[in-house]
Amino acid sequence: MTATVEFEAVDTNSDIGLLSVPRHVAIIMDGNGRWAQRRGLPRTEGHRRGVKTLREAVKHAQKRGISYLTLFSFSSENWSRPQQEVSFLMALLRRFVYDDLKDLVKANVKVRVIGSKENLDKSMLTLLNDAEQKTAHCTGLVLVIAFNYGARDEYVRAARKLAERVEAGELKAADIGEDDVSACLDTHEMPDPDLIVRTGGEQRLSNFLLWQAAYAEFYFAPTPWPEFDSGAFDDALLAFSNRDRRYGGLSSDATGT
Ligand code: IPE
Ligand code: IPE
Ligand code: MG
Repeated sequence: MTATVEFEAVDTNSDIGLLSVPRHVAIIMDGNGRWAQRRGLPRTEGHRRGVKTLREAVKHAQKRGISYLTLFSFSSENWSRPQQEVSFLMALLRRFVYDDLKDLVKANVKVRVIGSKENLDKSMLTLLNDAEQKTAHCTGLVLVIAFNYGARDEYVRAARKLAERVEAGELKAADIGEDDVSACLDTHEMPDPDLIVRTGGEQRLSNFLLWQAAYAEFYFAPTPWPEFDSGAFDDALLAFSNRDRRYGGLSSDATGT
């Protein structure tokens, strides 16, 4: 009798034709409510299912070697939804942080939270700070949770910080440069997103990372977030790897005068 060793077939980036991997992927996880409603389910069921996708997306980002994964979980405008849906989303985020923190530490994932901390429920604030502190030593994927986040709100807070520095005599208004603005944003010390994915079919930014998106590539998937599996994620990465990023210049293969 011969012993057989079974190997799990693991596809590498090159196996699926990925020539380059974005360093930072940011995702607008949209379409939960419509996914549920199409099935005759309450919208909240879509959000619940969305957490499963979120866990899979984190694993998949690690597998593909992405360094930063930013997930838009709740916008500064989402407070205008019915109270019941807002409460459900809050409870879901609490449960995710509470249940998954240990696994994230084990997987060497560093959590960062962006968005306004002003007027947040104290227990939520503690939970989010805890997630950042307990994963501060991790050196793997940086998971950026955009919570109570709105890009215009982020600008306003940055403008206030800069104005305070000018008032304090630390900085001259005429000397303010792009780096000073970037340093005052919630995303300071993070690279700009290379790829912004929006699921759910809409083609807009909805106040997400406006400054940081200056040279991001965009990918709009019709797939609602609860169905955005690793194959769909790979489709976005493949589209990215075929893009020609010129940053206002010319392609490296451009010829002529
Ligand atoms: C995204 O799904 C999740 C959040 C905004 C919190 P939606 O709840 O916006 O779902 P749709 O877009 O209404 O289908
Ligand atoms: C953007 O989706 C916010 C999140 C995914 C958290 P929305 O559903 O709030 O955006 P709009 O209202 O369609 O622009
Ligand atoms: Mg939506």
